[in-house]
Amino acid sequence: MEIVRKLNRMRSLARQGRREGKTIGLVPTMGCFHEGHLSLMRRSREMADVTVVSILVNPTQFGSDEDYEKYPRDIVRDAELASQEGVDYLFVPEVEEMYPQPFYAYVNVSSLSKVLCGAHRAGHFRGVATVVMKFLHIVAPHFAFFGFKDAQQSVLIETMVRDLNMDVEMVVCPTVREADGLAMGSRNTHLSKEERQSATSLYRALQAAEELFHEGEREASVLRDKMREVMEAALHTRVDYAEISHPRTLEALEHVDHEALASVAAFVGSTRLIDNLFLKTPDV
Ligand code: PAJ
Repeated sequence: MEIVRKLNRMRSLARQGRREGKTIGLVPTMGCFHEGHLSLMRRSREMADVTVVSILVNPTQFGSDEDYEKYPRDIVRDAELASQEGVDYLFVPEVEEMYPQPFYAYVNVSSLSKVLCGAHRAGHFRGVATVVMKFLHIVAPHFAFFGFKDAQQSVLIETMVRDLNMDVEMVVCPTVREADGLAMGSRNTHLSKEERQSATSLYRALQAAEELFHEGEREASVLRDKMREVMEAALHTRVDYAEISHPRTLEALEHVDHEALASVAAFVGSTRLIDNLFLKTPDV
């Protein structure tokens, strides 16, 4: 595995791969790998001839009051794990080269950026869409891999790719969980032992909504209230949102017909966690 730092080097390696008739898979990340990230790398290895994994703790997607400085970083361990997974190139660009100053051009996927996590994290999805667009341009992969764990992010990037006619196939992979259901996430490392126990309430809330849904409940407000109730019962937990939305427009639903996205966000201690579940009737 080669660790690539420079944009031009990455571009020419990807170009060379394409010239040799190889397909390229890209897994964009912010590092601090866990099984969720590794599952995307495995999927890329199955589907593509060459796998590129990018690591950038992307400053433009963090608010000024958010954890950019505190975000966990461990490039030595990440390189070891990526190499064990058979990744071909670990692309770790410098912030300065990714964001020449002054920097003007941003990608805005309008209304999809304003709901759910976007309502609470101004500018976050503009930063995500912009950096993913940049990686897609630099690597020009055939496939790009994302996790359903960040469902809004996946929908937003799928929409960007469709609206701007980008020539890449999006592959959204299932959420990888700990044995007790907690969705794996880099920020889980910030949780104290007690908080770690409370953190299971997010998935329990989603499961409770799913159970009601399978029993025939279709009123979104009932499903929302249930999720909120489960999370509020957990110690050290402050609910950010509990929402039932249309799976593509992400608009809040009043009534669910056949399918919906159930999503939750909560602060457990000072750590913000999110989780999602896709609700669908058996006939869909
Ligand atoms: P990061 O949080 O590092 O996640 C990188 C990818 O791993 C994302 O597609 C995310 O959805 C996926 N992922 C995270 N936890 C997962 C889990 N438990 N199961 C399955 N997949 C999981 O998301 C980002 O970075 C950034 O916003 C990025 C897209 C790289 C842009 O900066």
